[in-house]
Amino acid sequence: MPADIGVIGGSGFYSLLDDAEEIHLTTPYGPPSDVVTVGRIGDRSVAFIPRHGRDHRFPPHLIPYRANLWALRSLGVRQVLAPSAVGSLRHEYGPGTIVVPDQLVDRTSGRVQTYYDQTGAVHVAFADPYCPSGRAVAVATACGNDWETVDGGTLVVIEGPRFSTRAESRWFAANGWSIVGMTGFPESILARELALCYTSLSLVTDHDAGVETGEGVTHDEVLRFFADNVARMRTLVSAAVRSLPTERTCPCGSALDGIKLPFDLP
Ligand code: ADE
Repeated sequence: MPADIGVIGGSGFYSLLDDAEEIHLTTPYGPPSDVVTVGRIGDRSVAFIPRHGRDHRFPPHLIPYRANLWALRSLGVRQVLAPSAVGSLRHEYGPGTIVVPDQLVDRTSGRVQTYYDQTGAVHVAFADPYCPSGRAVAVATACGNDWETVDGGTLVVIEGPRFSTRAESRWFAANGWSIVGMTGFPESILARELALCYTSLSLVTDHDAGVETGEGVTHDEVLRFFADNVARMRTLVSAAVRSLPTERTCPCGSALDGIKLPFDLP
């Protein structure tokens, strides 16, 4: 069953669709994080992948990012919603805030971040990493569902799996960056390299070490907070799915125009 919208669920967000068909597939980059479930939300057809696997077996630096995005595109997906847990770098963004970032800083290292690493140079524009239409829908939907919502801001993606030191966290905040996470890159650039729309719905689960006066963030705290909010996140993502445009007018679909690709996209 083809799908036009993809959702990649974050920590604790392991299912989205009732009545879904399970699709076991593989890609030139190996299998995705788990079976892909495809079903309907309203009149939209949606494919869901739990980013960390259903049993949370993939830590952020080992997630098969290329396989996940390739699998979604091969099912027909052209717009991707990416909920994830993030830490806040600002006092005013408390746990429970939804941030829809418009910028990203990559502080990962050693992750494969391209499909085009063999023959021929492919340089894809990434000045604006997120889909403007998807962002507008995410912001309007989060506001409409009574979430504390922030429109814009910079997500800094760290390599993990450790959390940041207090000094790193203070440095991120001093640079004006708003939130910190571990999975928003290379997911976003790989989506762009496949000419997919990509929108981050970042749920603040904690204040990061530089903002917090206590012991700093723990994995348990992140998982517990996300788990407590997952039903609301599901509602939010489902509402956003219903509101995404059926025709794409954003620039994302043209990301590869004029570029000679070394292979055909699925
Ligand atoms: N995910 C959730 N909270 C985080 C934090 N403080 N740093 C990095 N990734 C996170």
